[in-house]
Amino acid sequence: MDYSKNFYQIKSNEEIFYKVSLEKNTVGYYDLPFQDTSEFKEYAKTVTQQDIVVVAIGGSSLGTYAIHKFLQHKENMKKLHFLESTDPLDLERRVGKLDLNDTLFIIISKSGTTIETVSILKYLSSITMLDKSNTICITENDSKLNTYAKTNEMKTFEIPKNVGGRFSVFTAVGLVPMAIMGLDIDKILLGCQTIYNDYFNRGDYYESIMEKARFIVENKNRFNINVVFSYSSLLEGFNKWYVQLWGESLGKININQTKQALTPIALTGPVDQHSFLQLIMEGKRDKTITFIKVADFENDLTIPDVSLPGLEELDYINNIKFKNLINEQADATIEAIQNLKDIPCDIITIEAQDEYNIGKLMYSYELLTSIVGSFVQINTYDQPGVEAGKIILKDKLKKKI
Ligand code: PA5
Repeated sequence: MDYSKNFYQIKSNEEIFYKVSLEKNTVGYYDLPFQDTSEFKEYAKTVTQQDIVVVAIGGSSLGTYAIHKFLQHKENMKKLHFLESTDPLDLERRVGKLDLNDTLFIIISKSGTTIETVSILKYLSSITMLDKSNTICITENDSKLNTYAKTNEMKTFEIPKNVGGRFSVFTAVGLVPMAIMGLDIDKILLGCQTIYNDYFNRGDYYESIMEKARFIVENKNRFNINVVFSYSSLLEGFNKWYVQLWGESLGKININQTKQALTPIALTGPVDQHSFLQLIMEGKRDKTITFIKVADFENDLTIPDVSLPGLEELDYINNIKFKNLINEQADATIEAIQNLKDIPCDIITIEAQDEYNIGKLMYSYELLTSIVGSFVQINTYDQPGVEAGKIILKDKLKKKI
């Protein structure tokens, strides 16, 4: 009797660990924590400009934005700007804030032909002289953007071919701008290394990430929405990056021709307590919630000991430090959700707002995405779904010429 099948079953943790370990041979992001960063640091020392502009979109900008938002308080006095949208009002407003005589433009595109990035590059080149003194390019070695850079003798940094856009934050894409902004990029990578070593040596992190990924996958039809609820405004950039990483990596058709729909949502506390929380508490039970807290904000701003006429009943909040208030708010929301007993939730606590911890957090999410992708048997690293619109757009734009 012969037997064959076209459906898959959820694999064992052992099989997934093996598969992910094998991926290291072909998928480039895994080993990035161990790269030599001296070229990035040496270059950063030579940058004299005060305005630093990242011209990029999607995976080429979101990771850098996430680190920048989280570590702004540790950056030097330079100002970092992002140009990614083709919204003309927004573009003009952002460019209007620059001192064009004191700006470094960092053009980042893996493919080198992304319409948004190239449109903005063209616009910039029409309002100021772009040359090797004020422009660098970060791209694949054989891209058309690389040809542009070489033709103009501009400095270039390479994005390795085997590192996908949304997994590229720990290449020159994120590390060059971060080094220019004065952050310790080796500490960022040290955070990544900690997660890498723990996972691949099967430490505590291996157990918890496998458990989480397996839970998400085993319950993907019931709890198909994965909410990240970050209790720090500084994690807003991370939230956006998470949505892209999760959505673009996991929203795919799997080997069983089934459309996978693990859906990322990212919220920020306490602001979204006054918005989306109601839906979590009383809405359909289709969400897992991951709370992200910061253990120590290293800031002692305190609610003053003042009694405001008419508001005396709120005097119980006097003398409370804001860092304690926000964490109490997080804990109260967590407790309220846990009391319901039917919403799966986990809590990540970041020890400090520094390079090491953001490296750990972001690398752990990259790894989680890869593991979930392996479990659901999709290609985590491609994005065929966004190609259709690109082809139509190209066609439309060409017809107008
Ligand atoms: O994750 C991805 O692959 C995408 O989001 C890309 O980063 C995005 O489309 C930008 O592409 P590129 O870097 O080629 O300009």
